[in-house]
Amino acid sequence: MGIKIEGNLFYIEAQTSSMIIEQKNSDLLLRHLGKKISQYHFSNRVHERDHAFSGNPDPNVRTYSYDTQRQILGTHGFGDFRQPALVLQHGNNALNQFKFTEARVIEGVVVASGLPNPYSAEGAETLELSLVDDLSQTRVKLYYTTYSGRDTLSTFIRIENFSKEKVILHRILSTMCDLPAAPYDVISLQGAYAREKTVRRQAVEQGTFSISSNRGASGHSQTPALILCEQEANDYYGESLALQLLYSGNFQAFVQQNQLNEIRLGIGINDENFAWELKPGETFDTPVALISYSDQGLTALSQESQSFVQSHIIPQQFADVERPILINNWEATYFDFQKDKLLQLADEASQLGMELFVLDDGWFGHRFDDNRALGDWWVNEEKLGGSLNQLIADIHAKGLRFGLWVEPEMISEDSNLYRKYPDWVIQAAGRSHTYSRNQLVLNFANPEVVEYIKLTFDDILRRHAIDYIKWDYNRNITNVGNGDTYLETQMQSHAYILGLYEVIDYLTKKHPQVLFESCSGGGGRNDLGMMRYFPQVWASDNTDAISRLSIQYGSSYLYPTISMGAHVSAVPNHQMGRVTPLKTRGHVAMMGNLGYELDLTKLSDLEKEEIANQVKRYKAIRPTVQKGRLYRLLNPSRGANEMAVQFNDDKQVVLTYVRILSTIETMETTLKLKGLDPDATYKLVDEDKSYSGAELMYAGLTMVLPQGDYLSKQLYFVKET
Ligand code: DGJ
Repeated sequence: MGIKIEGNLFYIEAQTSSMIIEQKNSDLLLRHLGKKISQYHFSNRVHERDHAFSGNPDPNVRTYSYDTQRQILGTHGFGDFRQPALVLQHGNNALNQFKFTEARVIEGVVVASGLPNPYSAEGAETLELSLVDDLSQTRVKLYYTTYSGRDTLSTFIRIENFSKEKVILHRILSTMCDLPAAPYDVISLQGAYAREKTVRRQAVEQGTFSISSNRGASGHSQTPALILCEQEANDYYGESLALQLLYSGNFQAFVQQNQLNEIRLGIGINDENFAWELKPGETFDTPVALISYSDQGLTALSQESQSFVQSHIIPQQFADVERPILINNWEATYFDFQKDKLLQLADEASQLGMELFVLDDGWFGHRFDDNRALGDWWVNEEKLGGSLNQLIADIHAKGLRFGLWVEPEMISEDSNLYRKYPDWVIQAAGRSHTYSRNQLVLNFANPEVVEYIKLTFDDILRRHAIDYIKWDYNRNITNVGNGDTYLETQMQSHAYILGLYEVIDYLTKKHPQVLFESCSGGGGRNDLGMMRYFPQVWASDNTDAISRLSIQYGSSYLYPTISMGAHVSAVPNHQMGRVTPLKTRGHVAMMGNLGYELDLTKLSDLEKEEIANQVKRYKAIRPTVQKGRLYRLLNPSRGANEMAVQFNDDKQVVLTYVRILSTIETMETTLKLKGLDPDATYKLVDEDKSYSGAELMYAGLTMVLPQGDYLSKQLYFVKET
């Protein structure tokens, strides 16, 4: 484990995987990325052929071309015709030939400035590889960090301008790597508002498959991550590699197969709406990327990513802390509430065993609907029937914690804040606004705005005993153009994200006891950048249990369950109009951090009894679901009729099976459980039956759904020996 430098070879070793880089002709060539190799002997001759129409830097060596060498920092202009890692303008061109100058091993994590970084841990080591382009007088530093016991590396790039002239970055990836030709598939998590994180898998063909966002946020439709796997890989077999970005703004990720079938992978900030000026002496750090590897199939890759994110990305004070069962008033009341109604909801919630009451949108300014008042963060005491502190005290007195909804990055035109500071919004001069949900976005690239928001929300948190914050963000960014020059406006989107990170870093450090949940109309910014500050995410505004199956399933590819809020809501469901049994709604939400979002005062006694049972059950299985290992058994996406997911820890097993439509004259599905101790006995709690681990794994259990409970089943086992 760790970093090894042997002659011109650099070994970056993780638990079972490694990356080997060779320095040759002062170029850095990628010799291996995959299963661990501790000694690299073969001098790579395969690329030493004269390939037609490739460029050769040395006239005497027609066999050496940047187009055929596997690299970690491709640039244009000298024979590499693939997607570049970097485009850096100096003088009248953007040609750069970075040549290796030195390598250093540094203990711990090197921090990308102003950006989300993984937490360091004992045994973490970083390799710093420096390269210099003599003509532009700029230096590139590539950082690769290994973490003890992990199969995930973190990596980013630092650019230093040590010339006497300014230079301009037009493109800079966070990481890039070239891999040998082979039949690969690429997996991405795609979707739209209310159907986030659907798993899409397709063959890699010649050309470029790319995903990106230009919305100013990572977006509902794409997640800043790609998985590359062998074509024959499945959940329990084969090699795979995940690239992920700790970034919440415009991003790109691609897999390119060139004319020789070789593969280039890259991930970083999107070039669109991006440029960055570096004055003499200035540096630029890219967002951090993660590279995870497994040769045991996609479930093992997911488990690696989930546990890395839980232990190195999610704020450490919350990483292992079980999350409260909440009641949120949004779908219960929308904007139409008074104090009485809130207290009635809280009464019911507390009697049913819930733990946190969340007051959603509508508590501030003249916020009677979503057309106004964003920015006016004063408490509407008329609506709350008194002060916020009094409401919080009343909620606390019922044995519930108190949470509050906010949307700090936004501003309504109909607000005192807008009337006072119209130039604080993101807006191109001379153009009219573009509205979305009738709101505008504050320019977090402006330090004055950043300071104001820090003070405003620090003040709210200081003056009230708030236990939880839901930080919403309900539109994407348009009209980018606040700068005086084109270059300034090209810098604005990234500067916005740096401003956002400054605000949330400040608030979460100042109020470390507050549990933050990020939300952007559900999962519009469900990325590792936000997760580094906010330990959980409202995964989707779609609360329909059946729609949630594929959203939650997709999220499990990379993100830990403990990061994902999941609520039981009313039927007919408000987004889909579907009626799903309460039991199934509970089973689905119990595969995440359980919460409720419906008017509890309107439920029958029978429904309340069912909910009280769900809450009781969830408290028993919560450690296993939120902190255990997740195994995917049946994939619900692309029209499949069934879904099954299993959670294990050392003491318990929870298996959830959902059959979406009832079927007739088919045999029931038999599921073979995963990851159990074959010699141990597992007691099925509800049925008072016991099974050996071997039986459950090798013979399996048949999913018979009892009459009246025809959509789903939750099996809860306790390990006995
Ligand atoms: C969008 C969120 O995703 C909802 O849960 C709710 O908080 C509304 N915003 C409030 O405006």
